[in-house]
Amino acid sequence: MLKVENIHVYYDAIHAVKDVSLEVSEGEIVTLIGANGAGKSTILQTISGLLRSKTGSITFMDESISTMAPHKIVERGLAQVPEGRRIFLSMTVKENLEMGAFTQKPEGIPADLERVYSLFPRLKERYKQVGGTLSGGEQQMLAMGRALMSNPKLLMLDEPSMGLAPILVDQIFATITEMNQAGTTILLVEQNAQMALSVASRAYVLETGHIAIQGDASELADNEDVKKAYLGG
Ligand SMILES: Nc1ncnc2c1ncn2[C@@H]1O[C@H](COP(=O)(O)OP(=O)(O)OP(=O)(O)O)[C@@H](O)[C@H]1O
Ligand SMILES: [Mg+2]
Repeated sequence: MLKVENIHVYYDAIHAVKDVSLEVSEGEIVTLIGANGAGKSTILQTISGLLRSKTGSITFMDESISTMAPHKIVERGLAQVPEGRRIFLSMTVKENLEMGAFTQKPEGIPADLERVYSLFPRLKERYKQVGGTLSGGEQQMLAMGRALMSNPKLLMLDEPSMGLAPILVDQIFATITEMNQAGTTILLVEQNAQMALSVASRAYVLETGHIAIQGDASELADNEDVKKAYLGG
């Protein structure tokens, strides 16, 4: 479904992503794990078309998206929940969700809203509340709900568990599994390697811009190097 081949991404002189290749098949949850500054967000931004790789290629549903405009990429069915949520703080929950539907036909929006509300009942209860007054966990739900309003085939999540209490982390991961079972393919970026490996089928470990290890998530969870570096021994 998604094929990233040999991309390199630079911030001026900084070579942030070095020859990265990865693949996501339809129906999978794939995780990309790695420490602060490894290049995880840079890779997601590049797939979304917000940053560009001068080399290599990115293909989604058999179509090259390497030079496609970001909104066209969303239209094709590839959406991203950015790191740090980035919801619209002065808009209500409902308005935030409607913003996520900018690629959709207006007549489909009520049904999409109901679908998001059934996944996140908390958002339904708070549909009139402004984004800035939501708790961190509710903001994460809203950011995920907003991305789902574009009816993505593939959803990329950038550190959804960041800053959340353990109980909310469990809830967010349960919802990721639920979205996947409802038919959305997931590319999950996480520093919480343990949780990410528990929901994913395959994983890539990123180290200073390059893929150091890749394989089945269950095998990586037992890998001594991965355990030492990312799973607290
Ligand atoms: N706008 C920018 N300008 C210059 N350097 C940047 C910029 N954004 C990121 N970098 C650098 O690129 C590298 C990769 O950053 P990136 O944000 O992709 O890492 P990350 O794996 O998402 O980290 P984190 O887990 O902390 O979110 C880092 O060394 C970072 O300092
Ligand atoms: Mg990041």
